[in-house]
Amino acid sequence: MAGIAIITGASGGIGFHTALELARQGMRVVVASRERDRGEAAAARIPKAAWQELDLADLGSVRRFTQRFLEAHDRLDLLVNNAGVMAVPRRELTADGFERQFGVNHLGHFALTGLLLPVLPVGARVVTVTSSLHKRGRIDFDDLMGDRRYRQLGAYAQSKLANVLFALELGRRTPLTSVLAHPGVAHTGLARTPSPVRAALIALARLSAQSAAAGALPSLHAATHPEVTTGEAYGPDGIAERRGYPTRVEVSGRGRDEDDARRLWAISEDLTGVRYGTFAGAQ
Ligand SMILES: NC(=O)c1ccc[n+]([C@@H]2O[C@H](COP(=O)([O-])OP(=O)(O)OC[C@H]3O[C@@H](n4cnc5c(N)ncnc54)[C@H](OP(=O)(O)O)[C@@H]3O)[C@@H](O)[C@H]2O)c1
Repeated sequence: MAGIAIITGASGGIGFHTALELARQGMRVVVASRERDRGEAAAARIPKAAWQELDLADLGSVRRFTQRFLEAHDRLDLLVNNAGVMAVPRRELTADGFERQFGVNHLGHFALTGLLLPVLPVGARVVTVTSSLHKRGRIDFDDLMGDRRYRQLGAYAQSKLANVLFALELGRRTPLTSVLAHPGVAHTGLARTPSPVRAALIALARLSAQSAAAGALPSLHAATHPEVTTGEAYGPDGIAERRGYPTRVEVSGRGRDEDDARRLWAISEDLTGVRYGTFAGAQ
């Protein structure tokens, strides 16, 4: 595979293995993450890769990243919206005042994708990494940022449902091939900060988790398989989609709700100030 790919959160976990395999298949890869040391160390282990600073918790950083990319490239062949944070124990805000999980996992990627539209050609793939936990999620339109009530897993599930609504709406609004992937349960750094909920998640993961490399397979399938079409979702084929080889999976009914998708889209444009307008991608 030729071309250039941006993988957010490729400094570790699933994103690293996604980037590594894409590079092995011949793509030039941009490792987009916030911590320089981890990012540069990851890029050094991936052929033809370079690290670029991207903090999805700061719309200024998203704009600087995309501006740099647009100045240097007239085409982006693949965008993998992979970076994520999970179960942040106490409510935290991003630089722009968004609840961190919603801000990083959804709004940051919403802005990133919108700002990269000028270099994405018709049919280019945008893979958005969600979680089977999206099925537990609800979009609380009256309290999107958890001002009134913050639940660490509830906020994560909401952000992962937002990923699903975003990816499906992106496929309806643009001629891009917008595809969802989820890794099942994989050993990664996702639960880095200690908390009782995270400790329980780690214990559960130890019982049934697959490697980060295996967790990257649905993303890689979504990114590279020739028969993938827009609006599809891929995850592991094992029990409860926890582990296994990539297969087509279903998203929840709430994830397919087109009214909610349009509503979330309008709110996301207002919050980020990024308007998608009419698609005018790269030639
Ligand atoms: N692991 C699982 O079992 C599992 C299950 C379901 C879904 N997922 C999804 O898989 C994706 C990858 O997670 P993972 O398990 O590989 O976790 P991980 O090992 O913690 O990797 C997360 C990546 O996201 C990056 N990141 C975090 N905050 C960021 C920010 N503000 N701006 C830019 N990058 C940021 C991190 O970069 P830094 O190095 O700069 O911190 C890191 O590269 C996530 O979307 C997650 O929701 C994972």
